[in-house]
Amino acid sequence: MPRDFLTTAEWTRAELEALIESALAFKRGDDRSRPLAGRSVALVFFNPSLRTRASMQVGAYELGGNAVVLEPGGTSWTLEHREGQVMDGDKTEHVAEFVRVLGRYCVAIGVRTFAALKDWEEERRDPILQAFARYSSVPVINLESAMHHPCQSMADMMTVREQLGAGRKRVVLTWAWHPKPLPMAVPNSFALTAAQMGHELVVAHPKGYELDDELMGEVKRHAEDAGGSLSVTNEMDEAFDGAEAIYAKSWGSRRFYGQPEKDLEERAQYRDHWIVDEERMARTSNAVFMHCLPVRRNVIVTDGVIDSERSVVIDEAENRLHVQKAIMARLLGGKA
Ligand code: CP
Repeated sequence: MPRDFLTTAEWTRAELEALIESALAFKRGDDRSRPLAGRSVALVFFNPSLRTRASMQVGAYELGGNAVVLEPGGTSWTLEHREGQVMDGDKTEHVAEFVRVLGRYCVAIGVRTFAALKDWEEERRDPILQAFARYSSVPVINLESAMHHPCQSMADMMTVREQLGAGRKRVVLTWAWHPKPLPMAVPNSFALTAAQMGHELVVAHPKGYELDDELMGEVKRHAEDAGGSLSVTNEMDEAFDGAEAIYAKSWGSRRFYGQPEKDLEERAQYRDHWIVDEERMARTSNAVFMHCLPVRRNVIVTDGVIDSERSVVIDEAENRLHVQKAIMARLLGGKA
């Protein structure tokens, strides 16, 4: 069976630390190996992307390989992922054939498939990602699913390590107002991986914007096992006190999956209140500002913060390249 990269929870802390070491070696130029020479990786995008697509394509090339980019419903056929369907609607091909055919050409399959924000109970199980993993005979790399974005969270942890040094740091994941509900993959993975790495994790969000209960249970367990901690607050200002890293992200309320108009009504009260600005950053312990990008300026974060010397958003984006090279080299190059 292939070893996949679906969530960081399936990897030990030691393995994640080794991936960051490997990514740092790629970044320094100390590792110029080409473990993908003569081989191809499929990159399947159900949703738009800048960073993930460009960094995976460049990463595959720099490892000596080739990337085949497919967009179901665009440059490839529309895809059905559910079992036992009578496919007499708008879906042309089943994941069962799509994935097994790609496995005959490519040594790994990366897939991006966002939450549709329609059915919480279904989407929290990551059905499309799981269908890819079930049928694939080659490793599957999660390029952001409904519930997880592990390549992003590994780049985030690498950035924390680079900017703040090794060891436990006070890292704050804060919700911010955004004009529409967004998926939870980025905050889920940031919380999970920060806990696995033993950080002092603070999660701040308004009441009603809680992350998944099961996931938060997992985050708490990992934090305890790794010698870190988890606290959750509904007070944004309080969360910033003493922070060493501020990670901003907006997400939708799981209560309002399938009812975006209700989420918009609920979140309206937080506009101009849940934003990362200079005043809040002044409460921190000279924290770095982090965001996965794309970000809406003067909505999630003020120009003054994102353009400040403490903003590391471009470094985070660069680190996507190095950490994904480390992941591909580990999965496909026989590295320990
Ligand atoms: N952060 C991130 O995944 O960026 P893209 O959506 O542009 O790939």
